[in-house]
Amino acid sequence: MREEPILLTPGPTPVPPDVLKTMGEPMIHHRTPQYQKIFRETLEELRYVYQTKGDVIIFASSGTGAMESAVANTLSPGERVLVLEAGVFGERFTKITQRYGQKVERISVPYGQPMDTDRVLEYLKSQGRGLAAVFCQLSDTSTGIRMEVEQFARALAKTETLLIVDAVSGLAVDPLKFDEWGVDVALSGSQKALMAPPGLSFAAVSEKAWRKIKLARNPRFYFDYLLAKECYAQWDTPFTPAISIVRALALSLARIQKEGLEAFMAREARLAEAVREALGALGLELFTKESQTAGLTAVQIPKGVDGAKLLSRLMNEFNIWMAGGQGSMKGKIMRIAHMGYIGKDDLIAGFDALETVLGDLGYKLKKGVSKEILEQQQGVSR
Ligand SMILES: Cc1ncc(COP(=O)(O)O)c(C=O)c1O
Repeated sequence: MREEPILLTPGPTPVPPDVLKTMGEPMIHHRTPQYQKIFRETLEELRYVYQTKGDVIIFASSGTGAMESAVANTLSPGERVLVLEAGVFGERFTKITQRYGQKVERISVPYGQPMDTDRVLEYLKSQGRGLAAVFCQLSDTSTGIRMEVEQFARALAKTETLLIVDAVSGLAVDPLKFDEWGVDVALSGSQKALMAPPGLSFAAVSEKAWRKIKLARNPRFYFDYLLAKECYAQWDTPFTPAISIVRALALSLARIQKEGLEAFMAREARLAEAVREALGALGLELFTKESQTAGLTAVQIPKGVDGAKLLSRLMNEFNIWMAGGQGSMKGKIMRIAHMGYIGKDDLIAGFDALETVLGDLGYKLKKGVSKEILEQQQGVSR
């Protein structure tokens, strides 16, 4: 078995060796010009991937912390919100907003189905007045669904309603033009397409959102956006930052900038297509067939195959890590990531092992068909 794991999970994802190495550098103190320089560069790079000239805040938390921070900073108890649910992460916004005492309205679609954009736009027209915020995902990682964020943003642009987007798995994968589209808050995390270790989350904040934040009364302490903004004006942070992960992120974001965001995302999109073609060649059925994110593919476990056994054999016998389904999708689907630092060679190794284990578990396939498709792809190595 190979020594190094091949991580084809949609977060954490593989971290480039130079980025990993920087985590082991001697610690420095954060209230110094040395750290300020790194911090400043990192914020600039984050603005680049978000495509914003506005504020981006960094927290030492996982992505869920950033999701909670948006609810805590932009809303007051009792305000009405609309949550769009196309998977487990949409449902998470429902849970957080309910916990904060919002009046929560929901538009839900079954797992694997795209969000009904027309229904959302119609709802905003007929019942949007008085809504404080709409919550959605750029991509819901539990199903691989991508939502039409641009359309939601444009529909809300001239209203008082904020659009709050969970882009934890969508940033630097699916298009997100924060300023141009008029998104108000977009949240993300370090451990997906941004190719850094887990532990950092981000919130990009629009001018419209800042006006609302100044009036919002939900409780917050660590996740206080206004406090962060005040400190950032002096390149300082309110609390101790996760220095090592910020250093790693600065390096991984520099890689994206060097390749160019568009080229980086185009590579992920080409890999996504190739993976879907390879799965089709194996006779496997995609779980999510429309409006897919370019970051991962959700595929059904074929009848007669034990999904848990499939994933554990891939991991234990080949050191290939793929993800299973979440919640009620457990055992029914598996998810293969192709975002960030994942390249053609990782996927070739992954599909080679997948073919072997599927065959061992009694699934009929022609060995080599999926690998061959991936091998033909050009310009998608990392
Ligand atoms: C779309 C999406 N939102 C939110 C989260 C939550 O992030 P974390 O697990 O880092 O708290 C994830 C993580 O998988 C995600 O994929």
